[in-house]
Amino acid sequence: MNKSNDRVFSGVQPTGNLHLGNYLGAIKRFVTLQDTHDCIYCVVDLHAITQWQDPAELKNNTREVTAAYLACGIDPAKNIIFNQSQVSGHAELAWIFNCVARMGWLNLMTQFKDKAGKNRENASVGLFCYPNLMAADILLYRADFVPVGEDQKQHMELTRDIATKFNHDFGDRIKELGHGDGYFPITDPLIEGPATRVMSLRDGSKKMSKSDPSDLSRIRMTDDADAIAKKIRKAKTDSDPLPETLEGLAGRSEAENLVGIYAALADTTKEAVISEYAGQPFSVFKPALVELAVEKLSPINDEMRRLMADPAGVDKVLAEGSERAREIADKTIREVKDIVGFLQA
Ligand code: AMP
Ligand code: TRP
Repeated sequence: MNKSNDRVFSGVQPTGNLHLGNYLGAIKRFVTLQDTHDCIYCVVDLHAITQWQDPAELKNNTREVTAAYLACGIDPAKNIIFNQSQVSGHAELAWIFNCVARMGWLNLMTQFKDKAGKNRENASVGLFCYPNLMAADILLYRADFVPVGEDQKQHMELTRDIATKFNHDFGDRIKELGHGDGYFPITDPLIEGPATRVMSLRDGSKKMSKSDPSDLSRIRMTDDADAIAKKIRKAKTDSDPLPETLEGLAGRSEAENLVGIYAALADTTKEAVISEYAGQPFSVFKPALVELAVEKLSPINDEMRRLMADPAGVDKVLAEGSERAREIADKTIREVKDIVGFLQA
């Protein structure tokens, strides 16, 4: 397949408990894009410390996300896989964006409100300006597309607003330096497929998340076949059979979630799953889902375990990826410094 020159960037936080939502909403789609685009996949450790992380666990979790990328089939020779803190340009550009983005914009961010909870005064300043760092990640590589789950849509809009404001504020200088009408692209999010928002297996109104206190709420990428089977068997559902049409899933969030998970794992659509299982009870559908999930996730799980047994090997992938990322990032930082008016040697 011919690759376009369009660049893809995305990231996953090394905060432990990687789950099926991360896989279906993000990592599985990263793998597909590598055939058609230049891809840069980051382990965003600077983002992780916006909330307290135990240092030893942070290292381990950074390796775990890297192992997940590799085990799912992302080729580190054809793409760039690295961890954010090894490329200083992320923090440098984020600072500049702290001075471009407006307080009013960040005050609208719903993820901050969710993560800060009731005690906003005690949230880190980093958690508040985290979307500026995400914009910096993307724009440092002048990425065209960002595959993410639905929960990142608002951060992607902010990224576009920051690029637009920067291009506008420094418009004359950008032209003068020969960069045309705008220095940063207006990046498009790729939020597609049947599993852009995988819900908790215990509560169809909450998204599947790393921080849910109930481990039954999520299938972890490191769960073995028994754990996967148990969690799907115990997943909350109503007592009706599956409907004849997709519309029949309206108002049945738990049923719709399982159908979406099945569709994403089988690389098909919810419509196709519904037509196959129309009228079937969950006592038929759940075992089929268990079989499919185990078939798809077990090889990934085995490979992650194998990779994690050789931490030095994983670290080497990150070191090499960081070096290649740095080459692109350093060029952007030099150009941005020139645009902004910073003296440099
Ligand atoms: P995070 O764990 O917050 O770093 O998320 C990594 C990626 O997984 C992002 O692209 C998220 O949008 C995606 N993601 C996280 N949770 C879910 C979910 N429940 N369903 C679909 N995608 C998700
Ligand atoms: N904010 C994203 C999340 O919580 C992770 C992330 C950081 C990211 N930087 C990014 C995703 C850049 C895409 C592109 O899931």
